[in-house]
Amino acid sequence: MEVVTALSDLRTRVGSARTSGDEVGLVPTMGYLHAGHVSLVRRARARCGFVVVSVFVNPLQFGAGEDLDAYPRDPEGDIAKLEAAGCDLLFQPSTEEMYPEGEPLTRVHVGLIGDDLCGRSRPVHFDGVALVVTKLLAACDPDAAFFGRKDAQQLALVRRLAADLSFRAEIVGCPTVRESDGLAMSSRNAYLSPEERRIAPRLFAALSTGAELVVAGEREPRVVVGKTLSVLAQEPRLDVEYVEVRDARTVQPLERLDGEVLLAVAARLGPARLIDNVVLHIDGTSVTVDAGEIN
Ligand code: PAF
Repeated sequence: MEVVTALSDLRTRVGSARTSGDEVGLVPTMGYLHAGHVSLVRRARARCGFVVVSVFVNPLQFGAGEDLDAYPRDPEGDIAKLEAAGCDLLFQPSTEEMYPEGEPLTRVHVGLIGDDLCGRSRPVHFDGVALVVTKLLAACDPDAAFFGRKDAQQLALVRRLAADLSFRAEIVGCPTVRESDGLAMSSRNAYLSPEERRIAPRLFAALSTGAELVVAGEREPRVVVGKTLSVLAQEPRLDVEYVEVRDARTVQPLERLDGEVLLAVAARLGPARLIDNVVLHIDGTSVTVDAGEIN
């Protein structure tokens, strides 16, 4: 695996791969890689001849008072995991490389999708994500870019920005990877104390209860949200930010559950802000639940 830090080197290496006839796959990350990231890299490896992973803790997607300085980092561990997973090129830029003029004046704002759900409590977050993903797609111009479905709102936003800005990359959503007790893998799980770690799987338990109600025939969003909330409320240390059902593609509210439906939760637990979701594929009385996979 080769490691580059300059955008010009990223462009050159990807250009050579393309000249050799390889499809290029991009996996954007912020590092501190876990099994969820590794599964994205493996999916990229299975599909593309040349796999690029970016590791960049993007300051623009952290608001004031958020965890930019505390965000966990493990550059050596990341390299070992990426080599084992078959990454060809690690792009590891500095902040100066990505934002040479300092604070960018250019904004990428994916209105309706970015302002809602997590965007309500993290007002700068999705503009930061949208800008850095735009820069990565522009520099790498991959055939496919791989994102986890755990960040369902981010996935919807990236799909929309890629369509709006006519990037040719296919945006590939990949299953959430879970610990054996159901907790969705996240770099931020490192913030949890042993006691908080014991409580954290309740998010998935609550989503599973909500999903079971839909499988049993419930189609009223208010009822599904209420049942999911009631499971979360049994744990007083969980500070629930939202439970919502939305259209999974547009992230817009639904009057009745039908089609591809996102049931999503965000909650604070000690120092960590946790998010999780399941996607329900509803066609008449038939419901398939996409909850991801256990590692
Ligand atoms: O999901 C992440 O790790 C980040 O939001 C991303 C997509 C790498 C952009 O910084």
